[in-house]
Amino acid sequence: MSTDPIAPQTTSDFSEETATAVVNASWANTPDGRLRDILTSLVSHLHEFVREIEPTHEEWQRGIDFLTATGQKCDDVRQEFIMLSDVLGVSMLVDAINNRKPPGVTESTVLGPFHMVGSPPRPLGADISLDANGQACVVTGRVVDVDGQALPGALIDVWQANGDGFYDVQQPDLQPELNLRGLFTTDDDGRFWFRSVVPRYYPVPDDGPVGDLLRATERHPNRPAHIHFIAGRAGHQPVTTHLFVEGSPYLDSDAVFGVKRSLIRPVVEVDDTARAAGFGVQAPFRLIEFDIVLPSAASA
Ligand code: BEZ
Ligand code: FE
Repeated sequence: MSTDPIAPQTTSDFSEETATAVVNASWANTPDGRLRDILTSLVSHLHEFVREIEPTHEEWQRGIDFLTATGQKCDDVRQEFIMLSDVLGVSMLVDAINNRKPPGVTESTVLGPFHMVGSPPRPLGADISLDANGQACVVTGRVVDVDGQALPGALIDVWQANGDGFYDVQQPDLQPELNLRGLFTTDDDGRFWFRSVVPRYYPVPDDGPVGDLLRATERHPNRPAHIHFIAGRAGHQPVTTHLFVEGSPYLDSDAVFGVKRSLIRPVVEVDDTARAAGFGVQAPFRLIEFDIVLPSAASA
């Protein structure tokens, strides 16, 4: 039997001093070791947080009310808890921990709530802007491995907001179905290209408790202009990322901390008739170039 006055023997030894040890002892019979470790860490950090904050009952109730409202805001299409994780930087931290990749690989960033499983396959060069809302541009790049070797047959899933900063799913009555979405396959040189519009920055949905949190802390809800990509190919690990439009507002204050400098690209004006013809557009035209480097399946 321990003689340490802090070491709890039973749950009735609960006190401010023994609380963490008493609760963590209750996980002792958890068969799943990973679950036991996670719960032990959770309780240790949560108790430390409470000891540091020393909340009043009213403050603790406010916290419970906030989490309750967060859950109540969730439905089939709205996931307020993910939004909370996003604005707390937890989504990006989990992403960073799970994407420790070799140097040179395209950096990853959050998936976000507007990805659709089942993007429409489209031929290279297709125009994904079905409502022509925004400044027309061509988006092109190569998918390569870390040695710069072309990856033909790679799949590129693309989705973005229009020139007003809305995704198709946010405006089902205004935008054509599957607007600004496409699934492309790279050619023999690992190249992809499609026509689109320059997206606009937009606010994350802020009509719920997470929006209240942003307002209470005088944070804005905006994300800088970006295009989402998931690139993948057999033998390589997929990369979920965005390209960010150089010069967009909010590049330095993304509400969900998703920006990485390596992903910012300019929109350039190209006055070259031959290049324009190659993309099936008139010169001059706007162009965004974004190469994607995939890690091999074998790399860490
Ligand atoms: C997005 O980029 O689509 C997004 C990411 C996180 C939260 C809200 C939107
Ligand atoms: Fe987005």
